[in-house]
Amino acid sequence: MGPLAALIGDWQGEGGLDTAFSHSKQKVLDTPFSEKVAMKPFGPVDNGRQHLYGLDYKTAMWRGDEEDPFHTEVGYWLWDAATGEVLRGFVVPRGITVLAGAIGVAADATEFTLSATTGGELYSIAENQYLRANASTVSYEVTITSGDDTWSYHETTMLRMKEFPELFPHVDHNTLTRA
Ligand code: HEM
Repeated sequence: MGPLAALIGDWQGEGGLDTAFSHSKQKVLDTPFSEKVAMKPFGPVDNGRQHLYGLDYKTAMWRGDEEDPFHTEVGYWLWDAATGEVLRGFVVPRGITVLAGAIGVAADATEFTLSATTGGELYSIAENQYLRANASTVSYEVTITSGDDTWSYHETTMLRMKEFPELFPHVDHNTLTRA
């Protein structure tokens, strides 16, 4: 499982923070959140000579004591030991799919960064028509840091939004411990 071995299991984190433009408040908000993540290992998946191992994952985030999560993702992490390629393919249920990746990651790496760009040749982002016109994702980057029974992510999603002349950095981070 290479660097994905440290991510196997059920996780929770209370100290998440999201920075996004709130349409209801018409301003940029920093929102604390709690999170539950499940990562289940599988493999091998063979593409000819390529042998991938992976994790299927689900994550959900809540603000305060609200019942329904305000953000969810489903997807897969994949590891190709032959090339040190790590992939994260996932869906954000706003009409966005992401395949982010990196090549040359060490099997025992405790920190690695994956990225994707819209229109990217290899690692790319697809989105719906409304988002393309109003809040288009131009790039996505996530850095994972793993330790003993804990891991963290820090991710930046750059958005071209109607509300701002410059690209807007939509930022999320959290630290997870075993549930
Ligand atoms: C921890 C992960 C994430 C959380 C908690 C989160 C949360 C949010 C929140 C609260 C908003 C503001 C909605 C509103 O009030 O109008 C938002 C907007 C948005 N998010 Fe995320 N997000 C996360 C990750 C992502 C990722 C990975 C992507 C894409 C790759 C993404 C794409 C977007 C887009 C395109 C919008 C703009 C929607 C609009 O302005 O109409 N988000 N997100």
